[in-house]
Amino acid sequence: MKNFPERINIASYRCPFKANKDKFSELNTGGLVGGLSSLRKNHRINWFCFDSEEGVDEITNMTIHRISIDREKNKLYYGEFCNNYLWPIFHYLRKADIFRVEPWLSYRESNIKMVNKISNEIESRESILVNDYHLSLVPGELNEKGFEKISFFWHIPWVSPEYLQMFPWIKEIVSGISGAQKIGFHLPSYKNNFLETSKGMISQKYSYQTLERRVVAIPLGIDYSEYENVEIRKNKFDEELKRIKLKGIKIISSLSRLDYTKGILQKLEAFRHFLINNPKFNGKVVLVLVVSPSREEVNEYKWYKESIDKLVGNMNSMLRTPEWTPVIYIYRKITQSEVFSLYRNSDAFLVTPIMDGLNLVAEEYISSNRNGLLILSKFAGISHYIEATEKVNPFNLEEFSTAIRNILEISDEIKVDRASKMREFIRKYDINNWINGMILKES
Ligand code: G6P
Repeated sequence: MKNFPERINIASYRCPFKANKDKFSELNTGGLVGGLSSLRKNHRINWFCFDSEEGVDEITNMTIHRISIDREKNKLYYGEFCNNYLWPIFHYLRKADIFRVEPWLSYRESNIKMVNKISNEIESRESILVNDYHLSLVPGELNEKGFEKISFFWHIPWVSPEYLQMFPWIKEIVSGISGAQKIGFHLPSYKNNFLETSKGMISQKYSYQTLERRVVAIPLGIDYSEYENVEIRKNKFDEELKRIKLKGIKIISSLSRLDYTKGILQKLEAFRHFLINNPKFNGKVVLVLVVSPSREEVNEYKWYKESIDKLVGNMNSMLRTPEWTPVIYIYRKITQSEVFSLYRNSDAFLVTPIMDGLNLVAEEYISSNRNGLLILSKFAGISHYIEATEKVNPFNLEEFSTAIRNILEISDEIKVDRASKMREFIRKYDINNWINGMILKES
């Protein structure tokens, strides 16, 4: 690739791999690290991220610079500012009644710590790709230090400018991001919302006209080939799923982080509605609900987990029979082999967030399973780009439950046609397309 940098410098809050005794076998949870980590197949990566301890790790094609962050500071920065202010607001869900100053100060301090580390380790002529809402001040600060090839990608939705006016530090966030030479969003609507928000907010130095030229809409993608041709390693989970199928029971699945934006409660309610209103399917279909623990130290997430536990318990105790349990609920991070098994063995997948920046699970499932049926939420960013077997409003129980019945009764022709169209998009807009579009070439 012409002028492509020798190594790709990446910055994100989360490190790609857990530094544990298993020596980096365990990838951290979330679309961002999952998508970006696959880049090391073809590129050398230099990754800056936060962790509880300072250190440098070398793994195949990747150097990880872990920047230590004090526990109390991290609570304010990551727990409160990032995950109780920014994350919900940028999904149209305000969770805090008061926006306190201390979390903001910790956010700013942590962003500056990241900038200092980057500028100590790499040269200002090198390009760097900064990621997500945890690091919005980094581009502006790096720019001040003379860096000129800064890309910034915002991985979550950018909501309407009117809604964002309530946030006391929106101007600082917009100015910080505007310090990047290239700014990316998954969807054209997020890009337009960002440009609208920034009107009148950025300084002379980053004029609005040049800003318009620097902002792009380009969806993150997956490494398609990895999912298409994967050989599944023997595992117990795979055997269990196969046993269910052998009994003639259909498997509908869901895989997400524990997060209220993922619409887990709505999904369970829709499945309950479907079973109650379609008794002929009782005993004939199960919902395999896999939830990966996430942000458990944040109160909102603790409550969400309790609500899911309760609802699953109610549903199973009301509907189950000695031979059949309607919801198979798994609360743990499943291994990569188990993920592939889940994709391959599921007759249908529910990707039905109440709001989502993009959602790569939909892409992974469609790439892994040639006969896969997908129910997609209208509010998942990926819905802008791909068709699905059914698209639903996850709040509309009637619509959602009808979609579940439809996919269980769908004809083979519709199945194949929809899936192949989806695969075309996923193959074209893969992770390489994204990195080529985002990274600034070196002259
Ligand atoms: C979302 C965010 C990512 C984040 C991921 C996992 O996808 O956009 O930046 O890393 O969730 O969340 P966590 O808080 O565990 O990093």
